[in-house]
Amino acid sequence: MTTSCAPRAWTKPGAFIQRPFIAALMTKIIHVVGARPQFVKAAPVSRALSAEGLDEVLVHTGQHYDWLMSAVFFEGLRRPEPAYNLDVGSATHGAQTGRMLEALEKVMLSEKPDVVLVHGDTNSTIAGGLAAVKLHVPVAHVEAGLRSFNRRMPEEINRIVTDHISTLLFAPTENAVANLAVEGITQDVIQVGDVMYDLILQMGEAIDGATDQVLDDFDLSPGEFAFVTIHRPENTDDPSRWDAILEGVRGIAAASLPVVWPVHPRTRDLIRGFSAPGVRTTDPLPYLATQSLVRNARVVLTDSGGLQKEAAFHGTPCVTFRDQTEWVELVEARVNQLAPPEAESLVSLVLSARWPGTGLSTRVYGDGTAAVQIARSLRRLVD
Ligand code: UD1
Repeated sequence: MTTSCAPRAWTKPGAFIQRPFIAALMTKIIHVVGARPQFVKAAPVSRALSAEGLDEVLVHTGQHYDWLMSAVFFEGLRRPEPAYNLDVGSATHGAQTGRMLEALEKVMLSEKPDVVLVHGDTNSTIAGGLAAVKLHVPVAHVEAGLRSFNRRMPEEINRIVTDHISTLLFAPTENAVANLAVEGITQDVIQVGDVMYDLILQMGEAIDGATDQVLDDFDLSPGEFAFVTIHRPENTDDPSRWDAILEGVRGIAAASLPVVWPVHPRTRDLIRGFSAPGVRTTDPLPYLATQSLVRNARVVLTDSGGLQKEAAFHGTPCVTFRDQTEWVELVEARVNQLAPPEAESLVSLVLSARWPGTGLSTRVYGDGTAAVQIARSLRRLVD
């Protein structure tokens, strides 16, 4: 494993990225990504940065590295390869974050950015923020202010620390702004909406265009299947929760609702040997295939943060295998229900999940211009 900070070819050996000479004169933003949801969130933001004439240096920490967890998103969302891939790979939290910090610092020292932009709550987020703030480079945090109020989740620590070291905080929702205020952060907090919502709007036609093929591939009919994803350690590493999830999925399929389940690498070994009639497990899926399935599912079952929102953007009810969620608006609007996997009534809860008549106010996650507002604010910050 290397942690080289030199610009290098990523997926195509020899294809070094040439940034134009003019870039030296422009405001430079290091944009840090590393885990699958960040490739999705970064796509609309990168487009907006470029439209705003800002010089973006996209840095991939290498936290996610499998083709289906990483490169396929750059290809599918038609984004150029990152300028740097730090190849940190998998490790314990301390080791992974430490490797990122060291490699990111080298990139920042050599690129001398005006701002470092980070997303969400992963180890790549906290590493990007910490490396920057120690070099006195302003940090801008997209998805600031989210809280699950469960400090056993690594993401909760990553969010809190990143928010407290950020100069500019892009909050997706009113609740996020309020959470920051409770912690004394009120300055330079901008409620912009959610960049994942921006992307769903931008990709709407492409998602519809992919649907027939995807449904055909999995032999599914619209509205007549459940879409499942599970990857959080609190579920995968707890045998009683994990067994309850398998039991629940088996029960849902046995009740004549076929299940399609793209398997996160964290659960690859755990799921080996599991099979049940009506349950189709598969490798992680690209963006368009995932969104087509979520849009057409009768119900989504997940423990992912992003998928809870994406289900709501598509008008698909969601059952979340968690004890808390940071996306509280979805629970309040009853489009998402929290359920511990051991719940006795899990199968009936899933089978009876419906999109409520009142639904969700379309403005809760903004108006599809979050990325544009972020780019404009960054321009103002450094102008
Ligand atoms: C990370 C984020 C989580 C986010 C999730 C999205 C943290 C603390 N967690 O969790 O917030 O929701 O990404 O997927 O940053 N692995 C592979 N190939 C890969 C990547 C991972 O095989 O390309 C396997 C490895 O065994 C690794 C495990 O998955 O140890 C976990 O990966 P890691 O990046 O540490 O955490 P995630 O569970 O993916």
